[in-house]
Amino acid sequence: MWKLENKKALVTGGSKGIGKATVIEFLELGAEVLFTARNEKEVYSLETELRKNGYKVTGLVADSAKSKDIEKIKDWIEENWKSLDILVNNAGINIRKKANDYSEEEFRKVLEINLIAPFEISRKLYPFLKNSEKASIINVASSAATQDVGTGTPYAMSKAGLLQQSRSLAVEWAADNIRVNSVSPWFTKTPLTEGYLHNEEKMRSILERTPLNRVAEAKEISSIISFLAMDKSSFIMGQNIIADGGMSITAL
Ligand SMILES: NC(=O)c1ccc[n+]([C@@H]2O[C@H](COP(=O)([O-])OP(=O)(O)OC[C@H]3O[C@@H](n4cnc5c(N)ncnc54)[C@H](OP(=O)(O)O)[C@@H]3O)[C@@H](O)[C@H]2O)c1
Repeated sequence: MWKLENKKALVTGGSKGIGKATVIEFLELGAEVLFTARNEKEVYSLETELRKNGYKVTGLVADSAKSKDIEKIKDWIEENWKSLDILVNNAGINIRKKANDYSEEEFRKVLEINLIAPFEISRKLYPFLKNSEKASIINVASSAATQDVGTGTPYAMSKAGLLQQSRSLAVEWAADNIRVNSVSPWFTKTPLTEGYLHNEEKMRSILERTPLNRVAEAKEISSIISFLAMDKSSFIMGQNIIADGGMSITAL
């Protein structure tokens, strides 16, 4: 029963980090997967590697923040699947600065990719999600959505907005049997955080705040995404699952 057989899934930002771990776990659980990212070389090398293992997987070069690329994703699903069971809005970026140091272009870019794009992708793919008997959207938010964790304000704003986007869409689309939930990781070992986690002082302060005394592996986040994608989680709706090694429950 803990399977994703006969499910068709789209994972945005699937070439690296949490997205890549999700693509692999979905395939291992029996799903057919379409994933996106901007770097062509990385998309096709992952697609080739996974296809060698016999998986039904397609990589599409698409920037979540570009309307024409969202149309490309839509066209691919229309031509190949006609329905979509799982949408993981995972693609995200950060530019870490003090509020007054951002250019308008920089902070708008963070909001565009992390907040606006998931809304636009969910809306554009809604007809396919509606065609699924039971669909599930999982938005990848962050601990930064609910606490100040030094990520910079635009990132925190984008992830806080994403949580409410998930809740509001969950209510609106419940009648269509489309569940919408979020996952909020704390520091996780991925290319996004590589530089930051290599800084000894920063790592020490993260560990001091984290009762489990370590950061997460990408697989520890993809397993939650997989659970929310399964019919096994069919009564979980509009929720945010926090995976933070206990960080948010410590008062000292
Ligand atoms: N790692 C953490 O500690 C952590 C903590 C909390 C939340 N998160 C969230 O988890 C998600 C994944 O993060 P990660 O750490 O796995 O990041 P990552 O290692 O940088 O991977 C991000 C993925 O998204 C793709 N991507 C970025 N911008 C894109 C765009 N505009 N369109 C399409 N694809 C795009 C990247 O490929 P290209 O660059 O080739 O496009 C890559 O495949 C993000 O939403 C992030 O905010 C991460």
